Amino acid sequence: PLDLSIDEETTSEAAKRLKIGIYFATWWGLNVVFNIYNKKVLNAFPYPWLTSTLSLAAGSLMMLLSWGSRIVEPPKTDFDFWKSLLPVAVAHTIGHVAATVSMSKVAVSFTHIIKSAEPAFSVLVSRFLLGESFPMPVYFSLLPIVGGCALTAATELNFNMIGFMGAMISNLAFVFRNIFSKKGMKGKSVGGMNYYACLSLLSLALLTPFAIAVEGPRMWAAGWQQAVSQIGPQFVWWVAAQSIFYHLYNQVSYMSLDQITPLTFSVGNTMKRISVIVSSIIIFQTPIQPVNALGAAIAILGTFLYSQAKM
Ligand code: 3PG
Repeated sequence: PLDLSIDEETTSEAAKRLKIGIYFATWWGLNVVFNIYNKKVLNAFPYPWLTSTLSLAAGSLMMLLSWGSRIVEPPKTDFDFWKSLLPVAVAHTIGHVAATVSMSKVAVSFTHIIKSAEPAFSVLVSRFLLGESFPMPVYFSLLPIVGGCALTAATELNFNMIGFMGAMISNLAFVFRNIFSKKGMKGKSVGGMNYYACLSLLSLALLTPFAIAVEGPRMWAAGWQQAVSQIGPQFVWWVAAQSIFYHLYNQVSYMSLDQITPLTFSVGNTMKRISVIVSSIIIFQTPIQPVNALGAAIAILGTFLYSQAKM
């Protein structure tokens, strides 16, 4: 009987690992497709406030339809739930718009190299705002992360300040989003998929008025006409793809956040960036200098050291 229970434990542990592995692979794959279509759209139609609003709108619509048709059981939420979701939604909205603005100004790979510094932001926020302290090796691991990103930024051929700052703001905002959402999901009956759906709805409500104020329908209409005349009628499918894949990758990432610690999540997120960086450089034929690539490699290696030091 003892052997049997050990066997069962090993099997369930293996099944759990397999499940998380499948979540991760799906999350990364969906994210690569999102990034490619997002950049294709932004190249022809440089209105990141609208494209980021459409991403949230597509997700909201998909989830409302899934709830309405009972494909997904709608969550039972109360006022307190929405109140605690508000800071998460503010952070999600800021982080999302900032990243999209960044990608409208610089290469996708550059945005994601800077975004690979998210663990460093996480340590700084935890240390200085939440008063948590870490063992020395954790602080040391920040050196290659920050140094690698700095080297990449300094040697980037098409450096743009808005592109750089957008990625940095996104890092800061997403650290808060992850801290707040892990807290908000703990012990709650709303699972990862529905939690992210509610987050999309609230973020959409927050973002829409700002998108109208910053860009607005007149710019969108003129830009849209131009994009369609340049790309052809399939432009609308590119927009649909970037919007739908944005929702899907985030939904899967929240479903995996349900199962893992924020640390594993943030390491998984950095690994995801490697696939985005490599595939976008190939697809968009982004020119990069060897020293630039070295900076990216150092930053990503720093994330591995960070995860080891934190464990
Ligand atoms: C966005 O548009 O929100 C960004 O592309 C998000 O980036 P991340 O989910 O890879 O951090």
